[in-house]
Amino acid sequence: MSKIGPNDPCWCSSGRKYKRCHQSRDLMKQLGGDAPVAKNAKSNSIKPGELSPIRTVPAHIVRPDYALTGRPSGSRVRNIIKNSDQIERMRRACRAARQVLEVAKAAIRPGVTTDAIDAITHQAYINLNGYPSTLNYHGYPKSLCTSVNEVICHGIPDSRALEDGDIVNLDVTIFLDGMHGDLSETVFVGKVDSASQKLVATTHECLMRGISTVKPGSRICDIGRGIQEVADEHGYGVVRAFVGHGIGETFHMDPQVPHYFDPGQTFELRPGMVFTVEPMINQGDWRHLMWDDRWTAVTMDGKRSAQFEHTLLVTERGVEILTLPEGEPQPFVF
Ligand code: MF3
Ligand code: CO
Ligand code: CO
Repeated sequence: MSKIGPNDPCWCSSGRKYKRCHQSRDLMKQLGGDAPVAKNAKSNSIKPGELSPIRTVPAHIVRPDYALTGRPSGSRVRNIIKNSDQIERMRRACRAARQVLEVAKAAIRPGVTTDAIDAITHQAYINLNGYPSTLNYHGYPKSLCTSVNEVICHGIPDSRALEDGDIVNLDVTIFLDGMHGDLSETVFVGKVDSASQKLVATTHECLMRGISTVKPGSRICDIGRGIQEVADEHGYGVVRAFVGHGIGETFHMDPQVPHYFDPGQTFELRPGMVFTVEPMINQGDWRHLMWDDRWTAVTMDGKRSAQFEHTLLVTERGVEILTLPEGEPQPFVF
């Protein structure tokens, strides 16, 4: 077989140039290189698998501006207070994101590859007339993030089969009605050890404690303070490198929402603001290492990490969680 040049079409028939698609992964393998091995990593640590060809989205689905180029236009949304039309479209996008997540969760069991989860999820977005927001976002190659065990976030679905005892975060974002809706949950694969059960339960508690602080007049730093309090009680590490974010017509926008206590974050919350809270909580050290794929973030010590995410609207009376399961009552109404 003749060698593929960087500007030739990729072997995976994605239609993208080789250098923009599989080249770095192929190179990594030829060099015998692998992901950086974390300190204290166990022999069963997660390793990169094979990527399937890029999935396509039917022409009738409305796409975000970066879908073709990989680069968001960067046109800044000036007003971070949303009007009633924008809020109604946010509600629809977030409800749909929840539905897609439930489809992904239902497919989780030992032996299923994360790529199979991607395929099922990809079809679920399309069935709802939505675009999978992560697909080609800054070149990200898949339709959701699957972060297993010591992977903190942005794990790329691949040929690795889920194993009994794994924990996996499923992070779903849909672009629908011109808005992005974003949520994630960490779920169990088969029977999980009690330390992991405690990590996952506490991470959910961190998310809900952070959200409980959200109301008009409170400050961004109150969210991180609440999260950090819960994590500290258990000696867990709060990841600092990845933060919650404003969301709407743009996937990631202002404000930034740290999940640790940063007293400098005095920005005041107002009705009509929409943003995510998405704490990543580690069994051990809060610091991360990045794989050579430049996406997958893993814990530095090889211990496990969990995450939960909701998209929120600040209301006159407190906070509306836009990504709750269908029919679940709002937990924080004042
Ligand atoms: N959904 C993730 C987040 O919350 C972002 C994933 S971006 C990707 O914020 F490119 F990594 F997929
Ligand atoms: Co997300
Ligand atoms: Co998010």
